[in-house]
Amino acid sequence: MPVLTAQSLTKIYSSSGGATATRALSGLSLEVEKGEFLGVMGPSGSGKTTLLNILATIDTPSSGNVEINGVSPAKLRGDQLALFRRRQLGFVFQDFNLLNTLSVRDNIALPLALDNVKAVEIHRRAKEVAARLGIAHILDKRTYEISGGEQQRAAIARGIIHRPAILLADEPTGNLDSKASREVMQAFADLNSNDIATILVVTHDPFVASFCKRIIFIKDGKVFSELRRGHGSRQAFFQKVLDSLSVLGGEYGGTNTSRL
Ligand SMILES: Nc1ncnc2c1ncn2[C@@H]1O[C@H](COP(=O)(O)OP(=O)(O)OP(=O)(O)O)[C@@H](O)[C@H]1O
Ligand SMILES: [Mg+2]
Repeated sequence: MPVLTAQSLTKIYSSSGGATATRALSGLSLEVEKGEFLGVMGPSGSGKTTLLNILATIDTPSSGNVEINGVSPAKLRGDQLALFRRRQLGFVFQDFNLLNTLSVRDNIALPLALDNVKAVEIHRRAKEVAARLGIAHILDKRTYEISGGEQQRAAIARGIIHRPAILLADEPTGNLDSKASREVMQAFADLNSNDIATILVVTHDPFVASFCKRIIFIKDGKVFSELRRGHGSRQAFFQKVLDSLSVLGGEYGGTNTSRL
């Protein structure tokens, strides 16, 4: 059974007076299997953030269904929905969203602290996940004392410490330079290949996408095409991504190959 199933998602935004309506998603279906590392690409305005917000249970579709680990978030209310989101989902944002009054350790520990896990267990898990992400040496620092790449790796640690069904990331390298982007994407790839995380990442950047195992391209609110990495190199996959994007149309950053 897939970890995540989205069936025929439609999202229509109406203006405040109801005079105009935008169809942001138009019958989009998608499945994510446990252990996948899926990229979502598409031109500006194609519906990527709308899709992510619906999968994140922050927004609801106008029609269609989402199931995560066999549960439809649309059927949950209030506290139940908050609990579901906190336990089953992990989030990584473009702007890190760390709390600057807390240490790196306490930021990472937050999902477990909110779930009343014992302090000893929280410390053990925080150390373990920080070590995996190469940030064990900065656990006692404040978020403003560390680099952007380290902040994002701390955010990833926070996103997986509670072992969510799926980790959702919207443009996770959007505020990072190319060296930090590479480190962050390598961190995602390592977590994925060690069976620790099922990941869905939205990105404009073909370099970032080249770390994924599968990519879906969306256009006009539905799936346009799909690409699988297979056993080839990341460099070869990057070229295939560029080819798919040229068919898809739209503007993308970082299409030169010098970063590979
Ligand atoms: N809250 C909203 N109210 C009305 N229209 C919206 C709203 N959010 C998004 N839209 C519209 O829905 C469409 C899809 O937007 P969305 O933000 O999902 O695109 P995107 O693929 O994430 O784009 P980008 O790459 O620029 O981030 C666009 O036409 C956008 O203008
Ligand atoms: Mg967006």
